Amino acid sequence: MGITFNGESGIFHIFTNRTSYQILLYQNTYPLHLYWGHRVYDDTCSWQLEAPYRRAGILLNSQPDDAMFSREYLPFEYPCYGTSDFRTPAYDLTDSRGHGISDPRFADWKIVSGKPQLEGLPSSYCESPEEAQTLILTLKDSVSGLQIELFYSAFESSDVITRHARITNGGQETVMLNGAASMSLDMKHGTDQMIQLCGTALRETHIEKRALGTGVTAIESLRGVSSHQANPFAAFVNRDTTETQGEVFAVSLVYSGNFRIQAEKDMYGSMRIQAGINPYQFRWQLEPGSSFTTPEALLVYSSEGLGAMSCCFHRFMRRHISRGEYRDQVRPVLLNTWEAFYFSFNHDRVLELARTAKQAGIELLVLDDGWFGHRDNDRSSLGDWYPDAKKLPRGIRGLCEDINAMGLKMGLWFEPEMISPDSDLYRAHPDWCIHVPDRKRTQWRSQLVLDMGRLDVQQYIIDSLSAILGSCNLSYVKWDCNRRITEAGSAALPPERQGELMHRYVLGLYAVMKTLTERFPHVLFENCASGGARFDPGMMCYFAQNWASDNTDAISRLKIQQGASMVYPPIWITSHISASPNHQLNRSCSLQFREHVCQPFNLGYELDLLQMQPEELAQLNEQIKTYKQLRPLIQFGDFYRILSPFEGDDTAWMISAEQGKHILVWYYKPYAQPEESYLGFKIPHLDEQAAYRLVGSDRIYHGSVLAHMGLTIDWKNGDHFSQFWHFEKI
Ligand code: GLA
Repeated sequence: MGITFNGESGIFHIFTNRTSYQILLYQNTYPLHLYWGHRVYDDTCSWQLEAPYRRAGILLNSQPDDAMFSREYLPFEYPCYGTSDFRTPAYDLTDSRGHGISDPRFADWKIVSGKPQLEGLPSSYCESPEEAQTLILTLKDSVSGLQIELFYSAFESSDVITRHARITNGGQETVMLNGAASMSLDMKHGTDQMIQLCGTALRETHIEKRALGTGVTAIESLRGVSSHQANPFAAFVNRDTTETQGEVFAVSLVYSGNFRIQAEKDMYGSMRIQAGINPYQFRWQLEPGSSFTTPEALLVYSSEGLGAMSCCFHRFMRRHISRGEYRDQVRPVLLNTWEAFYFSFNHDRVLELARTAKQAGIELLVLDDGWFGHRDNDRSSLGDWYPDAKKLPRGIRGLCEDINAMGLKMGLWFEPEMISPDSDLYRAHPDWCIHVPDRKRTQWRSQLVLDMGRLDVQQYIIDSLSAILGSCNLSYVKWDCNRRITEAGSAALPPERQGELMHRYVLGLYAVMKTLTERFPHVLFENCASGGARFDPGMMCYFAQNWASDNTDAISRLKIQQGASMVYPPIWITSHISASPNHQLNRSCSLQFREHVCQPFNLGYELDLLQMQPEELAQLNEQIKTYKQLRPLIQFGDFYRILSPFEGDDTAWMISAEQGKHILVWYYKPYAQPEESYLGFKIPHLDEQAAYRLVGSDRIYHGSVLAHMGLTIDWKNGDHFSQFWHFEKI
């Protein structure tokens, strides 16, 4: 039982093992936010809102219809605008008379077991109704007939609460919805800081902390994808919160398009947190009887710092977001041809690489860009998804047969949402791309974006990919997306619906992915968008893994992976060992350092093995053997950050697997520093009463020693130092 209603106090209590979320039904009219935080065992505390923390309006005893009633001081669950609450509303609309006023009031509630799926949108799921309970609060505006349903699902044992809203036009006239948040809540006491993941291509998921002052602090995307610049996640913390202590209030949005997450502190320091579709230029026509469903938001509260927050997200995503055959399977070690060949290869060269890869222990060979149309560079052929007979005379099918015959699986790169002006597809359908008539069609990497909201475009993509995937035994698809949306116009939408394009794009993408993943359940789909431009839980519903960044430089990856691990489980974050010197930064790093940086994640390779010396290939073979042994521990264990590259020179990570039986620890020191005589760190999240054996040696360490005296490091001198320990509980 994760949700109760106390009729006497008017309080809904949504709880998980360690957290509580309470809503007070104020005067049987408005659902007010009462509490979100550590688990409490009392659902009668309406007095929490009676305390004189507001100046002018202690309003709990006034009636909503009193002339003097003001909303400004009340903490709402889904606030409206225009009737005395002047903070950002959860939704915005324009009615047929041009007004934007509504006053939805409580009408009904129900609690159901399980978790309903969202129409047209990916969302978390449970496998049996006992895993979650859902509260649905219905609000109605008596003048317009507008109805708002607020959904709250409690995943009791996962400590996650999910929220979304459905807005229905129950009136006679069409209404324009100008924005609708997935969640909104008003905390009595705001926090000091917001943590966000931001950056750009080659520098994704960098952790930034921002001070929260009065007014709005937001992170958002207007690029059509969730973006490199802003991951759809934010954590609200106080200054003293660390990896192992302090309160964290975190939101992650299950959405892959334009979004906004914001905190708004009012003049009394109270804070409104909101997350949802970005309202900028969003216009959705809501005809009488029709509904709009917002994406889902995941809410995680931790009283034990950021490490516990991440662990909660990771476990939840592995079990309730990730789905399909691969959910519970270890992921194969792959070799991707991009940095080995770029556009220049042929059947025989790929086979030669595959042969060496097989000898090294690689399990899957992925042929990246350049295999279709006449694509010898990035200026043509997107949309023409048929093999280039010059490079591949026996087609993908012939190549796949030969690779399979070696005992290797084969995978293929696609960029299905895109169209090159130099393509047969563009010549046949120049209006299938997103564009505004009479305006320039901005190109980006010489390509345009297909209008994914169109059913004919969706069908074309489904048919083209199905033709190839159905023609041979492909085991994997890398789905890329290398540009953002400009001149957002659709030839298929009437003027009054052009504001729907950005969201329809995302819905179209989800619809295509749903069909393809259901049609090809044995295929492992990997998500990529110039690296991590669409690295979000929405994509995780379809993709078993995600390419975190095109930057494969090991030192850069420390920060990228540190940030990505805030929300996403290591099994989802692919990390490839590439050449030295590295192709993006031209930096050289030892093979062991590169191995250690990739090892705690989903390991792969992206380099030309044919250029490697025999001793390097032997080392690579050993790496892969070790990884395969550790793989179930790494991919299904609990990952924690110990030292942060954003706060010092060194980085350390750990994984605790099989209920703490195995503790894996990695330490990285990218640059030598003078006069550092004692280096070491303490290991959290282990059993302080137990003894541990260092695997591969006779040394025994007591848990209390590792936790409090810490490990010492064997660094003597030199850059790019790394060390790995595997402890087994005895
Ligand atoms: C993008 C991807 C790369 C690679 C290239 C191919 O940049 O992020 O990994 O697949 O496209 O063009």
